[in-house]
Amino acid sequence: MCGIVGYFGKREAAPLLIEGLSKLEYRGYDSAGVAILNENGVNVAKRKGRLANLEAALEESPIEGYVGIGHTRWATHGSPSDVNSHPHTNGDGTIAVVHNGIIENYIKIKEWLMTKGYTFKSETDTEVIPNLVDYYYKGDLLNAVMEATEKLEGSYAIGVICKNEPDRLVAVRNESPLIVGLGDGENFIASDIPAVLNQTRDVYLLENKEFVVMTKDGVKIYGDFEKEIEKEVFHVTWNADAAEKGGYEHFMMKEIHEQPKAIKDTMAGRIVPGHPVNIDDIHITKEQIEKLNKVYIVACGTAYHAGVVGKYVIEKLARIPVEVDIASEFRYRDPIIDQNTLMIVVSQSGETADTLAALKMAKERGARVIAVTNVVGSSAAREADDILYTWAGPEIAVASTKAYVTQLIAMYTIALFFAEQKGTVDPHDLEDMKKEMSTLPEKVEAALASEESIHELAKRIKEHTDMFFLGRGTDYAVAMEASLKVKEISYVHSEAYASGELKHGPIALIEDGTIVVTLATQNDLFDKTVSNMKEVIARGANVIAVAQEGHTEIEKSTENVVFIPKVMDLFTPVVAIIPMQLLSYYLSIEKGCDVDKPRNLAKSVTVE
Ligand code: G6P
Repeated sequence: MCGIVGYFGKREAAPLLIEGLSKLEYRGYDSAGVAILNENGVNVAKRKGRLANLEAALEESPIEGYVGIGHTRWATHGSPSDVNSHPHTNGDGTIAVVHNGIIENYIKIKEWLMTKGYTFKSETDTEVIPNLVDYYYKGDLLNAVMEATEKLEGSYAIGVICKNEPDRLVAVRNESPLIVGLGDGENFIASDIPAVLNQTRDVYLLENKEFVVMTKDGVKIYGDFEKEIEKEVFHVTWNADAAEKGGYEHFMMKEIHEQPKAIKDTMAGRIVPGHPVNIDDIHITKEQIEKLNKVYIVACGTAYHAGVVGKYVIEKLARIPVEVDIASEFRYRDPIIDQNTLMIVVSQSGETADTLAALKMAKERGARVIAVTNVVGSSAAREADDILYTWAGPEIAVASTKAYVTQLIAMYTIALFFAEQKGTVDPHDLEDMKKEMSTLPEKVEAALASEESIHELAKRIKEHTDMFFLGRGTDYAVAMEASLKVKEISYVHSEAYASGELKHGPIALIEDGTIVVTLATQNDLFDKTVSNMKEVIARGANVIAVAQEGHTEIEKSTENVVFIPKVMDLFTPVVAIIPMQLLSYYLSIEKGCDVDKPRNLAKSVTVE
């Protein structure tokens, strides 16, 4: 986790570093720090807690200088504290480093450096880096960083500055993201594009083990052995405003409202009624699809829930067995994979460590991999055989909303594509599905109209400390995602159960007033789900039901019904999740929680 930035140019570095870090706080916000070069050498300021603490410290004691590095932290090794905050320095404070990732062999390196007389102040893995660079430093920072990184095992994106070379900033990545922003007479490094977008739209997307050297003459990229590499400039076309709140109080609400557009963009050119499904970046052939013996969908968190829907729809439409796995589990079992196996990894960031490890394992064993990701040039996109980008735009709130619905769209797109290639669905039915899918942006827009009534509902239930979500079939997948949303941003204990499992244990938890949200959007399962709902009502539960418009009979069982626009059963997950996202948002607001930055969480989990 963590976010890093760096600046080399003609303006004061401090405000630019702070601005960059403010766009990276989604990567962690346990502490923030900067190191800036000036005639006094390397000057470090770092503070535990949010970026605002660092800003206040810099206001009190400003640091001038035109070259600097910055960091926002999500603690892994060592608790959040001033001393564990980055940047870290060597013993005499002449070399400073910011780091995102984990150095797995840091204890071995630390012990070895201690035998050479080095001392350490923090509990972090990172502190070995400036000391290792110091050990190898013989008057050339790039060389020293190259030699030091040879010794490092694990993941890192690092930025390094050195008192003895005030005209240079060196950076490198391995398994952690890093980009270079190219300005006019000034340049940047950052963990992610939004950090530089207010300054430039031209970036280099770095590959593993590419070294960056910034000087007043510009940026040079080197591979191993100092071989210079020609990089292609990637021009960012999305708007800088897209990474801002755009008038909403929170990123999450802005992103909830961006969903109709995100869905539309993700379907554009791919799902067009009257035309075959067109997935430009997927090159798997009809013959290869026909030979598939198994599809694994592998992901973490919210992306995993999109995968659960993917399993239902791919099996239903394309008649291929699908297993959906949590990436951190998949990589540590011994899954059966061969060249007729397909893995679909789903990852908003494309940088989740466990998902990437599962991807690599599948590839090593001969599987073909499709990456469903929202970040162009992310590690998942680079390492997979085929890419299906979700065009949700940058998602800043830790709780995923618009990326999730676009992941659902990707699942449907793949399912329809395979079904079309294999001929497993009647062409007329397939055409109806495409037509229905094309209406999803307006249905999601209509579902957003429930916002006020959901807010009132949240006010009524805000004192409850436990919640349950029930559903069958794809409603179960929605229940899981709804439950995760509630617990992650409003800290209410919540659980999702498959409705049929209710009587096998969970029903023991139901007592007078327990809040149970029942998803009942599937026409063919409606009666069964209503029966389960009545079972909990009989035991005192306070039920909130979610059903398609027209199913007014449900109002006989509970007065709390959220109706979603009528939609083909297959596609209800895309629409039913909307009121659930709104419910979690307003519960979070009513409980006074930090909606966009929930405690202990981070947006992109780049460590195991
Ligand atoms: C974190 C985020 C979630 C996200 C998950 C997987 O837990 O808080 O919102 O679903 O990581 O991230 P990915 O980028 O792989 O989709």
